[in-house]
Amino acid sequence: MTDKELIKFAMDARKMSHSPYSDFKVGAALLSWNGVVYQGCNIESASYSPTNCAERTAFFKAVSEGEKIFRKIAIVGWADKSPDLDICFPCGVCRQVMAEFCDSDFEVILADSSGNYKVWTLDELLPRRFGPENLL
Ligand code: THU
Repeated sequence: MTDKELIKFAMDARKMSHSPYSDFKVGAALLSWNGVVYQGCNIESASYSPTNCAERTAFFKAVSEGEKIFRKIAIVGWADKSPDLDICFPCGVCRQVMAEFCDSDFEVILADSSGNYKVWTLDELLPRRFGPENLL
């Protein structure tokens, strides 16, 4: 699976975003070790705090279906009224969820609305992190 193909899955997932309060639509596509893609979108709530980010939706779908080994994730996010904004970085909570399941070199592909993208590693996005190794 190429980065561009995974970005297309994230773009498709973004279309399912339930974000009537922020209007900020996010899509994620998480690739497992054996080539299965788990898509996720952000899901907002009228009481705000139950809101779930697209990345966590993808991770929780995968883990709840028995998958825990991942290669990379593509993330796209923008509001339709301002599609020219730069790429959307994953929030701190989602980075911590990545740290639960992924190694330092896990790739995080961030694309803008035109499909231009850059790749970061988990280690770059969340250095010196707390993780499973602290407790196991
Ligand atoms: N959001 C994500 O889905 N992923 C991120 O990493 C950043 C923020 C969502 C949450 C909320 O629905 C909207 O974007 C605005 O914060």
